[in-house]
Amino acid sequence: MSDDAKRAASDAASPAPAPAPAPASASASASAPAPAARKPLPKPIPRLGGTFLSGASGRLLPPSVPFRWFGAAIVFHALAWLALAAGAGAWAQWHGGLGWPLAALHLVTLGTLVATAIGASMQLLPVATRQAVHWPHLIGLMWWLFVPGMLILALGMGLARPRWLEAGAGLVIAVLLAWGVLLALNLRGARGMPGVVLHGWGAAAGLLLLALSAAALVALWNGHALLGRDTLAALHLAVGVFGVMGLLALGLSTILLPMFALGSVPIDRLQQRAGVAALLAIALAALAAFWTAGSVVSTVWRLGAVGVAALALAWHVRMMQATLAGGMRKELGRAGLLTRFGWAMAALALALALAQVLAEAAGYAIEPLGPLFVVAAVGGWLLSFLFGMLQRIVPFLAAMHAARGRKRPPTPSALTLESALTIHYYGHLAALALLALAIVTRSGLVLLAAALVGLVGAIAFAVFFAVLLGRLRRAGKDAHAGA
Ligand code: HEM
Repeated sequence: MSDDAKRAASDAASPAPAPAPAPASASASASAPAPAARKPLPKPIPRLGGTFLSGASGRLLPPSVPFRWFGAAIVFHALAWLALAAGAGAWAQWHGGLGWPLAALHLVTLGTLVATAIGASMQLLPVATRQAVHWPHLIGLMWWLFVPGMLILALGMGLARPRWLEAGAGLVIAVLLAWGVLLALNLRGARGMPGVVLHGWGAAAGLLLLALSAAALVALWNGHALLGRDTLAALHLAVGVFGVMGLLALGLSTILLPMFALGSVPIDRLQQRAGVAALLAIALAALAAFWTAGSVVSTVWRLGAVGVAALALAWHVRMMQATLAGGMRKELGRAGLLTRFGWAMAALALALALAQVLAEAAGYAIEPLGPLFVVAAVGGWLLSFLFGMLQRIVPFLAAMHAARGRKRPPTPSALTLESALTIHYYGHLAALALLALAIVTRSGLVLLAAALVGLVGAIAFAVFFAVLLGRLRRAGKDAHAGA
């Protein structure tokens, strides 16, 4: 069966048939003490992913709002590979700090990961936690500060201009704080979904620490040292990569994977168990930043962080595998492959972290371990998961918007250009492999190859998005003509 045919077959079940709405916290009944009655308690009703969508159309943002965030994320992704290519000439001499590799990293972390997380969280949380969207126009307006801020920040990093860095960071940090407030409002009003809410509060706290550490790093580059650079960089990495993006990826998985697989939502207790372990691991990693790497205290905290993070990952993967295995839609295609690849890369990142902690404790400095860890965590885990989900969310949301007041709306597969997603898939995997090789060999030429292959994948994803918007517009026009 061709990819298109497979998609069409899986679309037959979409939009998701909404099963009978389950009680607000189905799993709560499992943990409540048994009453003295003789009758056995009814089994908890598994909540199906499709129930998120019952009545969701009233809680959708105007389509231009999430789509502008997703569009920016897709463009910044292409710019990230271009920035990396710009750094190829000086790659052999680069050992951290300002420069094009740092600009590329932030075009990915902030420009792609955070921009997507803003669009996705602001749309998905109100739907999943059954509440109205707070200030939808503010979410749209924030974009107008974020995009120029991001461009100035990236140029400030790439061209090593601390003043530009400061100006761009000011705009972006303002957006991050506004997002944090909106996130907190959503979480405070949430009904049900305690696992998602736990991950969400962790991410909101992480966002505050990320903003503080980012501001302190920018101040440092402008001559004001609030804390040591090593401490700030380690704190910034822990709270940015794991505290904000990692927790959101884990928490939103429990909404997205059941929704796409039409599977049951993992029970609250399992979600909370994995969430508490992840929070503990991040707290230990953040604490470790305040001790010199290689010291006994730092080694103990970091070993603890890696061990607890491995447990959190194992629990998360096990419960999500069960959701996928029991889902009515077995085949998630490339989205499923990218999700599974992302889990493997998260495990690899933890193995690299362990190797680095042990090497530092033994007094060895193995330089490639740090950058390889960042590539595995950011590119391998977070970016793969993000593109896996984005290629499903965008057509799904578009089809939901198109369905309003229309008898025969386009299906998600009719809006999807599969060939572009195939090119992106192979481009993404090949670029990551080349990037790892460029780190180990320190070869500017290999880095350039990685950047070019990654750029091809990024452009293919942009084509998928542009074609989808075009097909959506055409479907709208046809509907008007037929009315
Ligand atoms: C306004 C937002 C941000 C600003 C201003 C900022 C700024 C910086 C600066 C100046 C550095 C260089 C540290 C140094 O080597 O001296 C840095 C490093 C880094 N940033 Fe950010 N950053 C921001 C957001 C983020 C986000 C959202 C993430 C991840 C999701 C992130 C991940 C990283 C990583 C992994 C490093 C490398 C740390 C290391 O060398 O160990 N940053 N950032």
